[in-house]
Amino acid sequence: MQIKAKPLLRALNGETLPTPPIWLMRQAGRYLPEYKATRAQAGDFLSLCYNSDLATEVTLQPISRFGLDAAIIFADILLLSQALGADLWFVEGEGPRLSTISSMNDLGKLSPAADIHEALSPIYQTVRNLSAALPIDTTLIGFAGAPWTVATYMIAGRGTPGQSPAHLLMQENTAVFDALMDRITEATILYLAEQIKAGAEVVKLFDSWAGSLNAVAFDRYCISPHVKIVTALKMQFPDVKIVGFPRGAGEKYKDYVDQVDVSCVALDTDVKASWALENLKPGVCVQGNLDPSLLVTGGNRLVEETKRVVSEFKGRPHIFNLGHGITPDASPDHVEQMIAAIRG
Ligand code: CP3
Repeated sequence: MQIKAKPLLRALNGETLPTPPIWLMRQAGRYLPEYKATRAQAGDFLSLCYNSDLATEVTLQPISRFGLDAAIIFADILLLSQALGADLWFVEGEGPRLSTISSMNDLGKLSPAADIHEALSPIYQTVRNLSAALPIDTTLIGFAGAPWTVATYMIAGRGTPGQSPAHLLMQENTAVFDALMDRITEATILYLAEQIKAGAEVVKLFDSWAGSLNAVAFDRYCISPHVKIVTALKMQFPDVKIVGFPRGAGEKYKDYVDQVDVSCVALDTDVKASWALENLKPGVCVQGNLDPSLLVTGGNRLVEETKRVVSEFKGRPHIFNLGHGITPDASPDHVEQMIAAIRG
């Protein structure tokens, strides 16, 4: 029997498929009752992330329910901060809290990048579990936060409007800021390399706050670390597929795709498909763009917008996805409706 490549990997290899493969950012999460049940069993969010069996279970839930084309390992971008020695906890209904970084002294308390693996070993085990458990057509995606986005949380100790504490440190104490960025970059390379060795076929870099970087800072703190990470991974794993998500980059999406050797770029909801088609290097796969709020409201608007995304990106390699993560108030029925609109 001839073994055909998985649909998602074909799109990442530059093929234009008649029906785009589908996965959703935050596809395992609180909008699914089965997720809430497993999370309750784990106790809390971080315990769920570090319990390889339960993390495997929640990763598989949206695959079993919807037959999506890819599974993304269940973890969080801030686990790497914790592995580097930051304190991390989640406040129910609010979000992450971490110890803060504002001086060389704070930085001195962090661990060397090479020391992250013991703390992250449950994540590598989750990847190995999934690599064995997934249906043969389903692609396994690993991920990490991009250095700028991770740094914004490590500096402020929480999510902040406009990421102002990180911008302040960048201006006022560039040496500390740059050293932190370098530490995270180095650790991210090691973290993703280990995920790939454990069986991740694709890795995605989430730069959720790239949109608050000005043009100069975007080159230095988004593009440059992404280039370092992608180059290092491709040296070790020439066939690995990498997805970049410089969320909010606007017209700088073009510079990003021109300079970072990604197989695919994830588009947020602000990018116009027509602009992307005209400006993003041909051959590079695109994913995303659908407004996640449509999965809350459903109805004709959801079906129309889904079909618009599919038809606008016809003629170029495309993976169907949302412009940002699915929200807890989304309806699983609307996800079904969206998938039916794509697959017919
Ligand atoms: O996509 C997936 O299904 C895989 C798992 C995944 C999670 N977080 C699980 C999660 C991924 C890829 C992430 C990435 C992540 N984490 C990002 C980048 C992507 C983005 O959304 O911009 C960021 C910025 C974080 C940091 C983070 N984690 C925040 C700000 C929060 C709180 C907000 C919220 O939704 O509650 C989290 C918590 C988190 N990460 C949840 C999940 C399922 C909710 C936790 C819960 O069950 O209570």
